[in-house]
Amino acid sequence: MAGRRKLIVANWKMHKNRLEAAEFVLRITHAENIVLCPPFTALDTVRQALAGKATKLGAQDCHAATHGAFTGDISAQMLKDAGCTYVIVGHSERRSQHQETSEAVRKKAAAAHKAGLIAILCVGETEKERKEGSFTRVVEEQLLHSLPEGASSMNTILAYEPVWAIGTGNTATTADITQMHDFIARLMKNHFPGWGAPAYALYGGSVKAANAAEILAIPTVGGVLVGSASLDAAEFSAIAGAAE
Ligand code: PGA
Repeated sequence: MAGRRKLIVANWKMHKNRLEAAEFVLRITHAENIVLCPPFTALDTVRQALAGKATKLGAQDCHAATHGAFTGDISAQMLKDAGCTYVIVGHSERRSQHQETSEAVRKKAAAAHKAGLIAILCVGETEKERKEGSFTRVVEEQLLHSLPEGASSMNTILAYEPVWAIGTGNTATTADITQMHDFIARLMKNHFPGWGAPAYALYGGSVKAANAAEILAIPTVGGVLVGSASLDAAEFSAIAGAAE
């Protein structure tokens, strides 16, 4: 990602109806390094509102299959058809609330690639794993098992999201973030020679306007994945502004 602007991704999770989504698009500044990931029901509204703007559209999850009898699921092809450029896979809320294993995440990332989407692939340890000191091993295992064949810096963006920092207000320290991002960059260099560029992962976990500049200043951080603070247009614009 060297030379590219740092990526600012809004993960709205299960928030915002179509009106709120359209209003949000009107209130933020737009740039090609900004990605909005609304719930499925607001994808088309956001797509229309983004017409002529540089900001990109993303989804929060996809199914591994292209089509079939999968009630309630959405395929990567459907997301591509809906105007998405990106899709988040392996978010910790999917891993913990929907029992998604790294193997399942790998299939989703492969499906995203097949559909021509860029997968934003999330990894991160729990509080228990951090306290036990096994956090780098956990992230290593997740990366080795979640990355599909053919993954490269062109079709995949890694995101380090420590579970204990998500939605808690407990942002990881600059030292914690630097340590893990350096670890990820080394791991990718050693295990994925075809990656094609230094692996500058995104950081996610209680990113807000007040801490975005400090986090984005870390050289190995390629951008931020923002949950709660992405719901407010002014707050999100301030975070995006910190990437300038
Ligand atoms: P948060 O969520 O910013 O609310 O901590 C981040 C995420 O889950 O991607």
